Amino acid sequence: MSDLVAVIIPAGGSGERLGARIPKALVQIAGKTLIEHAVSNMAPIANQIIVAAPAAYEEQFRKLLGTDVTVVTGGLTRTQSVKKALKHVDKENEFILVHDAARPLASTDLAMRVIDSLRAGEKAVIPGIAVTDTIKRIDKNNYVTRTYPRPDLRAIQTPQGFKRKVLIKAHDTRDDVTDDAGLVENQGVEVKVIVGEERALKITTMQDLEAAQRILIPEFNNQMRVGIGTDAHAFSLDPTREMWLGGLFWPGEIGADGHSDGDVAAHAICDALFIAAAIGDLGSNFGISDPAYAGASGSQLLAECLQKVSAAGYSIGNVAVQIVGNRPKISPRRAEIITALSKSLGGASVSVSATTTDGLGFTGEGRGLAAIATALLFQSAR
Ligand code: CTP
Ligand code: MG
Repeated sequence: MSDLVAVIIPAGGSGERLGARIPKALVQIAGKTLIEHAVSNMAPIANQIIVAAPAAYEEQFRKLLGTDVTVVTGGLTRTQSVKKALKHVDKENEFILVHDAARPLASTDLAMRVIDSLRAGEKAVIPGIAVTDTIKRIDKNNYVTRTYPRPDLRAIQTPQGFKRKVLIKAHDTRDDVTDDAGLVENQGVEVKVIVGEERALKITTMQDLEAAQRILIPEFNNQMRVGIGTDAHAFSLDPTREMWLGGLFWPGEIGADGHSDGDVAAHAICDALFIAAAIGDLGSNFGISDPAYAGASGSQLLAECLQKVSAAGYSIGNVAVQIVGNRPKISPRRAEIITALSKSLGGASVSVSATTTDGLGFTGEGRGLAAIATALLFQSAR
């Protein structure tokens, strides 16, 4: 019997109560959208991930999440979104976790504990936390009809885990409940509650978003650090020298001279990151004359830089780089550059701009390229 896991993440809601102008799943915390947080927390345990996106946003979701994630069009309700995603679950997956884009910070560890319980033989497993408010039932005139004993109550979270067949059968029946466990309960299947976690909170309002931000970025203010970096290279006199810029190859352009591939954007970003983390600079980390880095690609340097910055205890808030020069023209490939740089930096938020200098200086005279970068780092939670 396989014990592979498919994860369904409904993200098809509009987020009315949050009140952003974009769907809730596309709102950001610490430079990453809620759906990206949810996907990256579930990815380590998932054999397959299926996300239900709001209609008309499917392509945007696909771009954001990459080809490993299946994006389907969501339905009119959460249950319908889950139903549509269920149709795409591969049969090789013995278990299905149903999660929420609205709980982006639920940890890999929580998902793992749900799966452990399924592997131990449970058919349905859901996380829950003790409630702190007393819960009462009222009638339609607002009179209390019942008070529940608090120790018996749990506030239920996601991801909720099920044996594949149990969930599919439950979804074949009715869909007038608020969570997937509700459907399974209606089938008379025993549902096991395991201990949930504070960070799996559901983001409904702006206050919830701020609470999530505080969890992700502890002591937000005094643990941020900024850095700046610049780099410049002359265009080569060798017409066969390849141009590499922003992690991309530029066919038909003559590249910049330099010890490495001459990617000024990547080098400026490395410097900004090193200096923000206060761990030296490009030269002291990679050794200008070190033969190991002769011809090193910008992407390779960025990936190594990320490793060093992470080892120093930081995660990237965002990186911005401005490319200065007459050519190549950046705007047609801006999205590609952002994707390439972000990929080398472990999915960090990257923005790119470009400028010419009105004919002034070596960049204006078309003799070379320069780049200026800034980086924001957060001290990682330990
Ligand atoms: N969801 C969905 N399809 C829908 C409605 C909701 O996939 N038709 C998803 C949401 O994207 C969210 C989860 O179900 O990840 C929980 O829903 P909720 O927190 O209510 O999100 P929204 O419906 O987007 O928010 P609101 O109710 O405030 O509009
Ligand atoms: Mg809703």
